[in-house]
Amino acid sequence: MRALVWSGIDKLAVESVDDPRILNPHDAIVRVTTTVSCGSDLHLIGGYVPTMRSGDILGHEFMGEIVEVGSAVVDRRIGDRVVVNSFMACGQCWYCQQGKTSLCDNTNTAPGLNEVLFGSALGGCFGFGYTTGGYAGSHAEYVRVPFVDVGSFLVPDGMTDEQAVFVADAVPTGWMGAYEAGVKPGDVVAVWGAGGVGQMAARSAMLLGASRVVVIDRIPERLAQVRDHIGAETINYEQTDLQPELRELSGGRGVDVAIEAVGLEAHSPGIDGVYDKLKTNLRLATDRPTAVRQALFGVRKGGSVFLLGVYAGFVDKFPLGAMMNKSLTIRASQQNGHQYMPMLLERIASGDISTDHLATHTMSLEDAPRGYELFKHKEDGCVRAVFKP
Ligand SMILES: NC(=O)c1ccc[n+]([C@@H]2O[C@H](COP(=O)([O-])OP(=O)(O)OC[C@H]3O[C@@H](n4cnc5c(N)ncnc54)[C@H](O)[C@@H]3O)[C@@H](O)[C@H]2O)c1
Ligand SMILES: [Zn+2]
Ligand SMILES: [Zn+2]
Repeated sequence: MRALVWSGIDKLAVESVDDPRILNPHDAIVRVTTTVSCGSDLHLIGGYVPTMRSGDILGHEFMGEIVEVGSAVVDRRIGDRVVVNSFMACGQCWYCQQGKTSLCDNTNTAPGLNEVLFGSALGGCFGFGYTTGGYAGSHAEYVRVPFVDVGSFLVPDGMTDEQAVFVADAVPTGWMGAYEAGVKPGDVVAVWGAGGVGQMAARSAMLLGASRVVVIDRIPERLAQVRDHIGAETINYEQTDLQPELRELSGGRGVDVAIEAVGLEAHSPGIDGVYDKLKTNLRLATDRPTAVRQALFGVRKGGSVFLLGVYAGFVDKFPLGAMMNKSLTIRASQQNGHQYMPMLLERIASGDISTDHLATHTMSLEDAPRGYELFKHKEDGCVRAVFKP
């Protein structure tokens, strides 16, 4: 089959590789009909999350048709049209039983490096390199889906691939951020980042009853999508003084909930950006936490912060003083969206959540390297590159 393969920092190529096979009785093979780019892929491609090995297949957001099932699969049949969560969950372990599916103890077959870096390992993930199990990714014609009964969800009739595919990752990630941050009716919520994840977090905050939701970014096409398809307010941080603006729209207090959906490659026009670049280039830090710092400053005393952006390791100038003295609650997670996916598919079907506008650039898998160039540099209004293997 054909697949998008990583072969070094910023080196991508579509190559012929072996077809996947059923390895475990709980597996299925899915013929991928649609697979999309994610901000997390950029961290992998650029080597910021240094877990890919040459020859690894990229991609973790996808949907398709089941073409083969293992002998222990009970809820899925050949021919089912499914969207698959980007994280793998066994459904049985202590974490899965509590809904913390991205922390599954049984799907990461190579937990070693995670244990050194984090103390313990997260679950398995498609196309994310050897620290999450080394599973082949979804930017391919076929993909092996472990624990398919737990990880795949039937797509409602009449829903297009462009609507459903984002339920693999961006939609449940955004929902998790707003819901688990505790957004409640009347709250003022600020979201950093107007990519797929930030947009879905903003929409989720609105559905949870927030009175004002504002999304912060600098890319005009993305901010326009937020206004047109999400219905939230926007701030272009290059054209305004962000912190006074946040206080202004929250009665002088600061926002009740701050959701960060930017990640370790944050852009910063200020002195902290220069500092972070220097530290990371000298290998004295791994990540650029610009948006994290801003979120901790912009949230009100006693407020809640949720970090959705991916961070790999260690940061400098983390505002621990703001966290302690302002009595902040800070949470973060890789998405544990299995529990939310059926509800989110229904909300998309009913029109509560728009997703297909994120699919700005649709192309064949052969064009995926070009798609990633557009996505990386946010050229031509690219929000998500969509590949049709
Ligand atoms: N927690 C999870 O399970 C999960 C799931 C999916 C993605 N992610 C992560 O979420 C982050 C966002 O993902 P995405 O797919 O939307 O990425 P994306 O690259 O499409 O969007 C990131 C956005 O952040 C903006 N940005 C950069 N610096 C900023 C700053 N200082 N202030 C405000 N905005 C800034 C960029 O302009 C861009 O629009 C990434 O780090 C990704 O790895 C996490
Ligand atoms: Zn993703
Ligand atoms: Zn588990």
